[in-house]
Amino acid sequence: EIAGELATRLNLDTGGDVEELAKARTASAIAELVGGERPNVAFGASSAPNVAFGASDATNATLGRSEPGPAEPAPVIVAPKRLVMAECELALAETPDVAGRTFLLLGRGPLAEAVRTRLTGLGATAEVADDVRAGFDGVLFLPDGGPVLPAAFPQYQAALAATPAWLLTAGPGEGLRGFHRSLAREYPDTLTRVVELSPAESPEARAAAFVAELSTVDREPVVVREGATRKGFRMTEQGLGLLGSSGAGPAGDGAAEAAALGLDRDSVVLLVGGAKGITARFAATLAGTARCRIELLGRTPVPAADDEYPQARDAKDLRAALIKAGLKSPAEIERTIRRIQGEREVRQTLGKLEALGSPARYQSVDMLDAEAVHRAVKEIHAEHGRLDGIVYAAGVIEDKLVAEKTPESFGRVYGTKVDGARTLLEATADLPDEPKFVVLFGSIAATLGNRGQSDYAAANDALESLGRRWPAGRAVTVHWGPWAPTGDHDGMVTPELMRDYARRGIALIDPEEGTLGLLRELAWGRPETAAVVHTASGW
Ligand SMILES: NC(=O)c1ccc[n+]([C@@H]2O[C@H](COP(=O)([O-])OP(=O)(O)OC[C@H]3O[C@@H](n4cnc5c(N)ncnc54)[C@H](OP(=O)(O)O)[C@@H]3O)[C@@H](O)[C@H]2O)c1
Repeated sequence: EIAGELATRLNLDTGGDVEELAKARTASAIAELVGGERPNVAFGASSAPNVAFGASDATNATLGRSEPGPAEPAPVIVAPKRLVMAECELALAETPDVAGRTFLLLGRGPLAEAVRTRLTGLGATAEVADDVRAGFDGVLFLPDGGPVLPAAFPQYQAALAATPAWLLTAGPGEGLRGFHRSLAREYPDTLTRVVELSPAESPEARAAAFVAELSTVDREPVVVREGATRKGFRMTEQGLGLLGSSGAGPAGDGAAEAAALGLDRDSVVLLVGGAKGITARFAATLAGTARCRIELLGRTPVPAADDEYPQARDAKDLRAALIKAGLKSPAEIERTIRRIQGEREVRQTLGKLEALGSPARYQSVDMLDAEAVHRAVKEIHAEHGRLDGIVYAAGVIEDKLVAEKTPESFGRVYGTKVDGARTLLEATADLPDEPKFVVLFGSIAATLGNRGQSDYAAANDALESLGRRWPAGRAVTVHWGPWAPTGDHDGMVTPELMRDYARRGIALIDPEEGTLGLLRELAWGRPETAAVVHTASGW
């Protein structure tokens, strides 16, 4: 944060990366980096991320603070494209040359034993252990079933601290694809990969396939093995077919989609995280097209009918008003500003939904409080006798590189998405009827990986596994690229971040098109398509 603030105040051109500046620990090291005389000093090009996407990443979140200058590029805000993660065949992996190399194997069981035997046969040294120690060329995670994340994060962190040549995990496992895609971006000198093995094969066959993945024929972070065949994934554009392009059409109002989904005034849709951000926009689209009843959940307290400080329009005004009212602690002032602004956004969403013709209610429920979630779902269903659609969009970001992230922070980011969605899945599984649709809001960080977002990428990836288990007419995880903020419901992309994206030439999703695109996805997408990417950016 300090580095970002410094870059803003000195008007430094950091080339999109303040990391180098953040690493400078003394005043003289900072002075050397910024040069001292020229206001526009470029540095850190070599450590700049090669791609940036998702709502935020560790570097652009801190950097994106400067005001737009006269020469700033305008943001590009367009309709999103629809893509899927298509499997592609990869080159065969040759037997790796590991003679004389040392490996630490984390995990007990037949697979770990078979991998140890295989490595020893190739002339390597392999030690099976429960905890990470330094001094090995490769660290291999062999969980052999059972969840790996978030519990194993500290072990990954410890293993990566020594920058081993290899860091491989035997999958499949919840969230491991997004996690390894992010590790690959943060640790370019380590071959980091999740190898998805067929549980039907013997431990020896799986060990042979796993060890073959120490090969450096490519640096794919996710490899699916079927015998000797290797498969990876490529994001590939895929339309929705004739109906999808001619249903409501890009300029349509979504009424045809709402009808195709069976949504009308009697329907009930629950949106978790729906009182704010991009989900509030989707709630408005549902209201405008179906006038259905809308139930919203979020952590923000239920707002009182009237604003406490109606004259104070923005954070600056509120700060002045709160100080005048006697608040002294800066932390308390900032917390109160966030609460008031959160309550304003909720109030505004409710007002808009009602104005569009949808009866709407907001309840303050923390998705990490399982009892409260079960209670809320039961009550909503009991009151209306139905639940037609579910949107799960709760999420938080706490971007930091793996080396700097705490396990608690990893757990919060991961748990808000995964534990929250799992609780909701369990709560709705008890209901007598399946919902017509369930949509889980994921992120493009899961499909491409992102520096500083290993937790967020893993969590959004893990949503896919939950979505696949959700009984519904259509259950789909939509991995979003960044949306454009428009003032009232910015969500995770702040106006500052938008300017940063503009500088990087990254296009943002037009909110109107984004919500209609989602409605089309739900109406015309094939039920077996469990995950899609909707993004305006052209990666
Ligand atoms: N905006 C983008 O460009 C973008 C891109 C990719 C993916 N996404 C995904 O889209 C979703 C919405 O994001 P957004 O940009 O609209 O951000 P946002 O405004 O911050 O929305 C996040 C929502 O989640 C709720 N939430 C967080 N923790 C919760 C908890 N423990 N229990 C209940 N609710 C909780 C928040 O409510 P409170 O504030 O009241 O806690 C808020 O309504 C997220 O899942 C995000 O990952 C967004």
